[in-house]
Amino acid sequence: MSSLTNPSRLLEKNSEELDSPRLLLALPPADGFLSLLAAERPAGSTHVLTNMVEVREQASRIVPEANLVYSHDFSQLQGPFDLIVLYLQKSKPYTSAVLDQLCPLLTEQGRILLVGENGTGIKSWRKNLQNWGEVMPITSGCHSGLLELLPSEQSRSTNKGWEEKHFPIAVAGTEIQVASLPGVFSHGRLDVGTQLLLETLSKENIRGQLLDFGCGAGVIGSWQAKRHNRCKPTLLDTDAMALEAARRTLALNGLEGKVVASHGLSGLNGRYDWIISNPPFHEGVKTRYDVTENFLLQAKEHLNRGGQLRIVANSFLRYQPLIEEAFGHCEVLAQGRGFTIYGATLAPAFVSAEI
Ligand SMILES: C[S@@+](CC[C@H](N)C(=O)[O-])C[C@H]1O[C@@H](n2cnc3c(N)ncnc32)[C@H](O)[C@@H]1O
Repeated sequence: MSSLTNPSRLLEKNSEELDSPRLLLALPPADGFLSLLAAERPAGSTHVLTNMVEVREQASRIVPEANLVYSHDFSQLQGPFDLIVLYLQKSKPYTSAVLDQLCPLLTEQGRILLVGENGTGIKSWRKNLQNWGEVMPITSGCHSGLLELLPSEQSRSTNKGWEEKHFPIAVAGTEIQVASLPGVFSHGRLDVGTQLLLETLSKENIRGQLLDFGCGAGVIGSWQAKRHNRCKPTLLDTDAMALEAARRTLALNGLEGKVVASHGLSGLNGRYDWIISNPPFHEGVKTRYDVTENFLLQAKEHLNRGGQLRIVANSFLRYQPLIEEAFGHCEVLAQGRGFTIYGATLAPAFVSAEI
């Protein structure tokens, strides 16, 4: 994704607002704005905070390693900054918790610009931001709005950290505690689609190596590991917050597993006996199908012969033809509550070359 998103277009049009000695671009989308910005600024003066592997990969080609943080842990940022440009996130509690942690990273005269697309709540943030200090609308355009926050002394001196929630889930007699963090999928409750997937899996004999693709807080992999204590699942996600929640879920239940940061399957080595997923079709506030489409087409390259794919998806999503294209067949294993469970087995004729 290299063309500019609407919020980035608005920033580009108002580039004079970004003129400051030390600037942090916080949680930008994977568009071309960072390279435009960095090209206009003195070398080493632009820093990037991201929670997405795709943005980390892109930014690593543009800013020095020391200026790039991909983590849930904002203390790794080398502040203070004169200006932080924050892209509005889909989850309000997440945006709020991010603001709590960014304000203390500003210089005394430092300011935050919040940019977001209309229809994603940017207008209501004009009022919400007053909880952190003085707010001024800068401009609007490109279907987006740009707000300025001058944080209060109190916001700059208090860092509340992430609020971690624990909640139990019990499916087919197996219970685990889930550790969830703001912004991580289904923060605080079991997703209906994931529940249907686990109910379907409970009727299967799952053994061997298991990959939980798009693991979120690690619900699927941890539930399976709890059912069969010899299962040490691999939990993969692009989101640094999700991976931290997944690590905490494993630890909370005394389970072992591997956590992998990857955009799609690109960062994954090795093959599995089971690939199980409630795959994404949103990224932030946008609908995005390419990640799951590529995942379905490439999953067989990470399955052992006879390996199994199981996914849950909203029934309106047309994933069945893609699975058939990759595996030669696709079973509908269950349907209900607006979701469908699809399954496929990797037959010898479809095994691709060793990776
Ligand atoms: C529908 S949620 C499922 C979460 C969890 N498995 C569950 O069932 O509760 C999809 C997950 O895919 C992750 N995701 C989004 N884009 C991704 C990508 N490009 N590569 C890997 N994971 C991605 C999201 O961060 C999110 O955690």
